[in-house]
This record gives sequence, structure tokens and C-alpha cells, in this order.
Amino acid sequence: MTNTKAPTPQPGTLRQWTNALISRVHHVATTEQPQTHQRTERDYEDAHKHLRSSKGHAKREQSFLFDQATTAKFNALVLQEHSRDCDEMGTPGFDHPPTTGVIYVMDRATAKGWTYGDKTWGNFGQGAPEVGPIPDAIERPLSISMELDEFEYAPVAGIKSLRQAVANLYNVRYRENKESKYTWENVCIVPGGRAGLTRIAASIGDANVGFFLPEYTAYEALLTIFKRFVPIPTPLDKDTNYHITPQRLYREIHDRGERPCLQVVVASNPSNPTGQLIEGEQLEKWVDIARTTKTTMVLDEFYSSYIYTHPENLGKTVSSAEFVDDVNVDPIVILDGMTKNFRLPGWRVCWIVGPKEYISSMASSGSFLEGGANHPLQKAAIPLLKPSNAFQDACALQTHFAMKRHYVLERLDQLNLTVEIPPKATFYIWLDLAALPEPYCNGLTFFEACLDEKMICVPGIFFDINPGRRRDLARSPYQGFVRLSFGPPLDELKTGLDGLERLLKKIGYNS
Ligand SMILES: Cc1ncc(COP(=O)(O)O)c(C=O)c1O
Repeated sequence: MTNTKAPTPQPGTLRQWTNALISRVHHVATTEQPQTHQRTERDYEDAHKHLRSSKGHAKREQSFLFDQATTAKFNALVLQEHSRDCDEMGTPGFDHPPTTGVIYVMDRATAKGWTYGDKTWGNFGQGAPEVGPIPDAIERPLSISMELDEFEYAPVAGIKSLRQAVANLYNVRYRENKESKYTWENVCIVPGGRAGLTRIAASIGDANVGFFLPEYTAYEALLTIFKRFVPIPTPLDKDTNYHITPQRLYREIHDRGERPCLQVVVASNPSNPTGQLIEGEQLEKWVDIARTTKTTMVLDEFYSSYIYTHPENLGKTVSSAEFVDDVNVDPIVILDGMTKNFRLPGWRVCWIVGPKEYISSMASSGSFLEGGANHPLQKAAIPLLKPSNAFQDACALQTHFAMKRHYVLERLDQLNLTVEIPPKATFYIWLDLAALPEPYCNGLTFFEACLDEKMICVPGIFFDINPGRRRDLARSPYQGFVRLSFGPPLDELKTGLDGLERLLKKIGYNS
């Protein structure tokens, strides 16, 4: 730490004041920051520079440079200056939202030569499963025939026959012995998972909404753009295996002063990006807590078929629906769809399952948000949801993805990058870089270095979602992590891991 005095902003026009402040914070960043921070910023300059210069990310990365108080001051000034800047940019009144992490990653990879279908690259950044044939999976149609009525709008909540098929699948899978069953009125069809999340977010009123970190990147903008509710994060860490026990959940809902403090909790389970899973008794307790505390639990079950915890029970999927008592009373709202579990991301056919009252709200918000999912593919989805077909497909998926998971974990182990908390579900590995030498133990730098070896991954900070930029990401506990996806086909995984092996050799790790 040095004692050099930085110039203090003097009164004047707002623009002058802002410029003076910018020069002061730069001065502070380069001369007055603690030693470790200084070194981090300098060493990782290139990787961070790229992120700062990408559209919508300038503000995100300021927090790497500035301390919290200065960042807050700076952001307030930027807000005041905002409309004038927009005029100068030619988009009056518009702001550029940050791209989600995966998009940023693909933009950087493209800049370094990656093109879609290039077999010399390994794309571990891919947030989708391979869509081609896998052994023993059900046939998916390669062409569909249409009736004239499918040229019409479908109802905003989806066609009744598909809503019925979804309700039936949940009843067969999870509610055989329960009196209360889902009906078509408990299902809302949505054009993709993000559209589902948007409908849910648009329907939340004045509430405190709890969520856990790290979390799926798209939640950041979603929890920011709808201004009625207040998002409240709870960071998880490796010491607790990123696991949210029922006790922890209860504390988050109740122990923050006001009682209960949270009216809504949103979580991906299985978790993107950690691959951790709440199931069985623990999930039952989650549902109990929602019921008894009257807290709406939005559970994003997008990876409910990618389960590796019971290989002896092949085809078993996991859902909170199993523990709901009364489908129209318990405040459990489930999101799932064809995107991941049926390996059909391009179809944009997904669903929300929950009490009728909630479903009615989701239908209303869809009427002004996007107007509903496409009609023909809703019809085409129905046979795939027949319980026997869905079961066969889940078995095939689990066998195939368990094989790829095993392959990647083994190779990482051979490269001395042992994964201490392997995924119980999903197709993601949350890789701790702590063992690597500086600067490669930083996710953003590691990511850029991997690109040079034609391997793509996603830096961990993108999952430290930060609605409204309220927290200082310089202190993000996830800077030393990346997410690796084993969504792509095995050959591509091999290519990517060869690239990683070259990188580790180049930097002298393992030698
Ligand atoms: C947890 C989770 N929820 C929702 C989605 C969004 O799905 P879609 O691509 O259908 O919008 C994703 C996609 O990566 C996801 O990981």
C-alpha cells in the first residue's frame, strides 16, 4: 500500500466531476489497493480488458477495479449521465443489457477462430446436450405434418392435449400413490425455459426473492429487469459442497429480521453450474418448508433426467412434484421442458407445473410477453411425453451421459485437476483451479489461455449473478472456478481435453 495522494474531485460540471472521479478511482486502483488486488488486476489485465470492452459489461468489470464505496459513487454518477450518453450513442433511452456468460464466451471463442462445427475445437462451454442419436434413445421425428388449424395461434397457456400429456407424465412418474393429481389446468406451456422464467418473474409481486449462488447466468437479468421484487442472494461455498440443507433454507426464509423475510425462493435443482442435487428426504423437507412457511418455491428442474446418484435405478428422475400434498395448495412452481431432458433445445417447448392460481398468472403474463409456444411442435411433443417413451429416453440419456461424465472426470484426474465435488446431476463440472499456478488459477485468465489451445470453458464469475450490480465482484468467491460442460459428443470432449493437456504442459503444471 502506498501513501501517494490522489487528486480529489473538485466542484464543477457533472461531466468534469465524473471525469475527475474516474481518474481518481483509477489512481486508487493502481496505487492504493491492497497488494493482492493490485497483482490480480495487473496479471489478469488482458482477460479482464476483454470483458470490460464487451457490450453491457463495462459496469460489471468496474467492480474489479474499484472498492465498493467508490463503485457505488461512480455508478450513481453514471446513472445521472446515462441519458446524455445514450443520446451520444444514438440509442436514446436504451441501455445494452449484459450478454449472458455463455454468449460472451462464444464471442471470445469466435474472435480466436472458433466456428460452429470446427472439429479441431472442444466446446466445454456448451450449455446444451448433444442432439444427435444416442444408443437406445427414442426416435425423434425429423419431419412433421401439419393441419391447417396449426397455422393458428395456439392458446397462450399451450394446447390442452400437451398440457394433459405433461400433467399425466408427472402423475405417473411422481404421484402414483397420491390422491391429489395434476390436471391440464396445472400446466402452462411456454416457448423455452427462459420464457418460462420470464413469465414467472413477471408474475411476482412486491416480494423478497431469495436465490443461491452460484446460479444459472440468465437469472441475473431476469432478477434485475422486473423491478417490483427485491432479489436477495445467498452465496454457497465448497466447504458445504454447495449444498442447501433444509435447515439452511429455513434460516434464509426466517432469520433475517422480519419474519418471514422471503416470500419466494428460486433455485435450479439440479444446480447449474455446480451439478449438485437436492433429492429424497431433503427435497421432501424443502417442500414441507414451502408449505408450512407459505413461501413460494420456484424450482427450475431443467436437468431432472441427468441424475447419476442411483445407477441401480436407471431412468429415475427427480422432481419436487413427488412431495407435493395438494397440487392446488402447496406453493411449488416447477419449470422443465424439452430443452435438456429430451435434448431438443431448438423446439422451444417447455412447461411450468404448479397450483392452478399460479398457472393462471403465468398465462396472463404470456399474453403480453411472447404470446405462447409454436403450435406445430407442441403437437409433435405429445408422443415423446408418453410415460413409457419418456422412461426409455431417460434411461438412454443417463447411461450415455454417465459414460461421458466418467470419461471427463478420469482425464481431469490424470491431469492432476481432480474434481473434489463431482456432479451428482446435470452435464456440468464445477472445476476448482486452486491447484494451478498464477495467473491460471483465475477463471477468466484460464478461459483465455484455454481458447489458445482450442478449448472453451465458462469462467466461474458469470455464475456469481449480481442483479442490479449490488455486490462487488472483486470479492467473488467464484473467480477461481470454471464450468465445464460434457454436453457435446465424446469425440469433441476428447479434443478439448487434449487442448487442456497441452495448456497444462505449456505452463509447466505436472512437469
Ligand atoms: C437451469 C436452467 N434453466 C433454464 C434454462 C433455459 O432453457 P432454454 O434454453 O429452454 O431457454 C437453462 C439453459 O441453460 C438452464 O440451465
